Amino acid sequence: MSDNKKVVIARVLLPAGKELLSEEFDLIEGGLESGPEQLAGMVGGAAAIVADPTVKIDAAVLDAAGDQLEVVANFAVGYDNIDLGACRERGVTVTNTPGALTNATAELAVALTLAAARNTSDAERRMRAGEWKGWDPGDYLGLELSGATIGVVGMGRIGRRYAELMYGFGGDILYTSRQFKEEAEAKLGARKVELHELLAESDVVSLHLPSAPDTDRLIDTAALALMKPTAVLVNTGRGSLVDSDALAVALENGEIGAAGLDVYEGEPELPRRLLDAPRTALTPHIGSATFTSRNAMARLVAQNVIAVLDGEEPRNPVG
Ligand code: GLV
Repeated sequence: MSDNKKVVIARVLLPAGKELLSEEFDLIEGGLESGPEQLAGMVGGAAAIVADPTVKIDAAVLDAAGDQLEVVANFAVGYDNIDLGACRERGVTVTNTPGALTNATAELAVALTLAAARNTSDAERRMRAGEWKGWDPGDYLGLELSGATIGVVGMGRIGRRYAELMYGFGGDILYTSRQFKEEAEAKLGARKVELHELLAESDVVSLHLPSAPDTDRLIDTAALALMKPTAVLVNTGRGSLVDSDALAVALENGEIGAAGLDVYEGEPELPRRLLDAPRTALTPHIGSATFTSRNAMARLVAQNVIAVLDGEEPRNPVG
């Protein structure tokens, strides 16, 4: 038996991070299919657990790991999968990967904004099904982003970058935030408003908030009713922000214009109604999935683990 500390990777970690960790520690990796039972069976004696948004870290997992557990390093900026209170009680540090995925996620939000605004998903689906009968001047008329009002809900790192990119398209930026964002107001002409005003005035509403009790189903039937019938809703934050059934109904009934979604309530299960909804561009939680971002995230995870296990302050503690 080696004297190295044990690091349990609940599912998988890209080589950029694994290589750094394997220099100092004994690694155990659960694999993509690994679930809560396998994790419970693997964590005993671990000094560190590497988790991701699909891995629930609760008191039971922490207790199964044991008192020597020092850190839970999340391969994500969001950490709603981790019970921070339970970690705090046991003296376990929690880390995440902010910054590394800002550009990637903001860029996917832009991609979904464009895809939904121009209805490229329905267009491609119908064309692939052989339904294209020829150029039609009145077909697929969509929203032009130049001159559109862009509502950014949550002006953290990703929201700020999305706002900047949309400003580049000639959009007028509204945002909600707990704080006044002086730099975004000065540079992008962004204007801080209340959510109801943003919903009512925006041509595009893009969500950049974490999952938390106060953001749960922020976009529900009442919120959708405030939006313009032509408005585009984009969600690259967390599925819990949007009531999927209410959204499907609003799309079916033309109460909003279109949606671009990367995250879903109860993912990876998706309600049939949302899959069948018109004017909807869907991607499977790939916001941070660029080579640059995912490799940087993997390295950050490893650096955070190494720092804590070497007795130093990690770069990205949370809670
Ligand atoms: C991904 O979902 C993340 O929070 O980084």
